[in-house]
Amino acid sequence: MKRIYFDHSATTPIDPEVLRVMLAYLKNDFGNASSLHSFGQAARAGVEAAREEVAKFLSCDPKEIIFTSGATESNNLAILGFVRRARALDPKRKIHVITSAIEHPAVFEVFRELKKEEVEVTYLPVTKSGLVRVGDVKKTIRPETVLVSIMYVNNEIGTIQPIREIGELIKKINASRGKQEKIHFHTDAVQAANFCDCRVDFLGVDMLSLSAHKIYGPKGTGILFLREGTPIYPIIFGGHQERGIRSGTENVAGIVGLGKAVELLNQKAKVKSQNLKIKKLRDKLMREILKKIPDAIFSGDPEKRIPGNASFCFKNVEGESILLMLDMEGIAVSTGSACSSGSLEPSHVLSAMGISPIVSHGSLRVTLGKNNTEEEMRRLLKVFPGIVERLRKMSPIKN
Ligand SMILES: Cc1ncc(COP(=O)(O)O)c(C=O)c1O
Repeated sequence: MKRIYFDHSATTPIDPEVLRVMLAYLKNDFGNASSLHSFGQAARAGVEAAREEVAKFLSCDPKEIIFTSGATESNNLAILGFVRRARALDPKRKIHVITSAIEHPAVFEVFRELKKEEVEVTYLPVTKSGLVRVGDVKKTIRPETVLVSIMYVNNEIGTIQPIREIGELIKKINASRGKQEKIHFHTDAVQAANFCDCRVDFLGVDMLSLSAHKIYGPKGTGILFLREGTPIYPIIFGGHQERGIRSGTENVAGIVGLGKAVELLNQKAKVKSQNLKIKKLRDKLMREILKKIPDAIFSGDPEKRIPGNASFCFKNVEGESILLMLDMEGIAVSTGSACSSGSLEPSHVLSAMGISPIVSHGSLRVTLGKNNTEEEMRRLLKVFPGIVERLRKMSPIKN
């Protein structure tokens, strides 16, 4: 049976071109990028070429790119590093930060940690369709606010947040602050990179996190864009790599793979046509599922969502059960976030949107990528309605 992958928000397959360049660095140019000999220089050249490619994608200076072990680390560095620096300047000061109720755990848990350090955290609510309101950001900002961190695209429901509008608001407020400390703005853009404009000046962000494995690159590599002059402390100490902001021997093959993945994203016309194809398949899926399966609710915003994401809640059936039955048919999807699917707690994202636990237990996320085909979609649509029907017949819950 040919397996079908519809879980691209969890991770993407490595693009063959990415693998090809990585193998060259694993086999031949394996030097330590800090070594002065030719092996080291070859590795350094690969790292710096990748940095240039990422800078081109974000439209920033290569000096503003810090390589990390992935977006979890990038988010930790951005948030912990920034707040701890602010605290060190005056240990007694009040510090207020703003985030949203629907962040990925790689942001959410960092703020939970900071609450233990007497940092006041505001979690902005979202609309029924999972969007942060710019007006709520405005209302929540106070003189002690130093940081706003809002994700660009939600990993469960695919909603695109109004990052540019929030960036403009923060810029205006900063202009009126005079000599007072500026508010800094971070966005977790992991799920946005394949589909949205990530130029940092366009968005008005000071920090932005990306992960290679969500863009057809390798796992264990990411970046933090850190705008020149953004005050931050490192959170990892050691050999002073990455300008002392992120110590640790560079993962050269990973970084080169990330560079190649971003180079593919920089081919704008090709990416645009891939995304149109993805959207067409996704729209067909949404239409057919809502038509063929009774009591199917689609979650998220109908317009402000990335083309690859289709998410639903099915009443009177467990998302996990649908996932397992589809897996037996060789089709991979997910329920809630892949990173938290070990937990049986209802999704905090769906709860924040006002969806009751009983309904959100039937949540299912289908996320498409550039290699998915019409034929694969036909196979999914052929088996899906029957699976939900069979499970509902077996389910003891009837509402
Ligand atoms: C929105 C978002 N942020 C952060 C992460 C974590 O990224 P990484 O796996 O590179 O640590 C993920 C991964 O699922 C994600 O979806």
